[in-house]
Amino acid sequence: MSERMTIAVLTSGGDAPGMNACVRAVARTAIDAGGDAIGIERGYEGLLEGAFRPLGLGDVGGILDRGGTFLGTSRSDRFMTSEGQDEAFSKLRARGVTGLVVIGGDGSYRGAQTLHERGMPVIGLPGTIDNDLGGTDTCIGFDTALNTIAEAVTKVRDTASSHERMFIIEVMGRRSGMIATYAGLACGADCILVPEVPYDVDQICESVMRGVARGKRHSIIILAEGAGHAFPLANDIGDNCGHEVRAVVLGHVQRGGAPSAFDRILASRMGAAAVEALKDGDSGVAIGLKHADMARYPLADAYTGVQPFRREIYDLAGILAL
Ligand code: F6P
Repeated sequence: MSERMTIAVLTSGGDAPGMNACVRAVARTAIDAGGDAIGIERGYEGLLEGAFRPLGLGDVGGILDRGGTFLGTSRSDRFMTSEGQDEAFSKLRARGVTGLVVIGGDGSYRGAQTLHERGMPVIGLPGTIDNDLGGTDTCIGFDTALNTIAEAVTKVRDTASSHERMFIIEVMGRRSGMIATYAGLACGADCILVPEVPYDVDQICESVMRGVARGKRHSIIILAEGAGHAFPLANDIGDNCGHEVRAVVLGHVQRGGAPSAFDRILASRMGAAAVEALKDGDSGVAIGLKHADMARYPLADAYTGVQPFRREIYDLAGILAL
């Protein structure tokens, strides 16, 4: 007789809107398939502490539209060591876990890979507002973060227009300009500064002041955190352009809030696809969205082939801001 399926799920790294919807989908599809679901609190750190809790149908009720992650999350240094990974593997085995679903970004996937290599069936789900994982068209939380940024920029633009000011709005993305690029296109930014494209202050001033000369009442520059810091840059640009400049750092506001309908649907589909993959006996794979369908691909491809920068989106935003 085949072993009864016991699927554990954890959220790891930075929280992302839609993680709860994803946990709900994992738990309910596992139960629907005749198995048991277990939540692991506080990511890999909680796994090392053995912080397991059974997830029944009702335990994941009322969370579909909630931001953050009700399981909690962490960035665990202990789990980064090979002793920590051995310990985590033993904890899963001792609890009778037959498959693990890890929801997170590139660091979480690297951790998932180590458990897979030790023999634990593991599936990765892309939960990061950075949208910087390869193999998937988009990640859980990215759409919500963009909507949050768009709402904030609309508010800032009111003040920018009223005072005829330039604003530098710093968004997240320490290694990737994906958020800044998509937000820039969504918000009609005059200029987008990302780690992938070198820039200089003279050039920025020239392009922004061209807009001012033809009557633009406001100028919005979207800056990825990985490409500089808003406050010193605002001083440099202000001195150079002789124009009034203000800086806004959106920070963690971008990570919270109720997930968009898009993220709820994406997270629900991905959670179900992870359980399906475990049922099929797959391991060491990540689930992605590819051409509107769920796709499976090796976990390592997601972090070694990091989501290529979408230069065409960046260029389009530049053209439309002329
Ligand atoms: O990885 C998601 C992310 O939000 C990055 O964009 C950001 O640089 C980082 O997390 C911030 O991490 P923390 O919340 O640990 O300060």
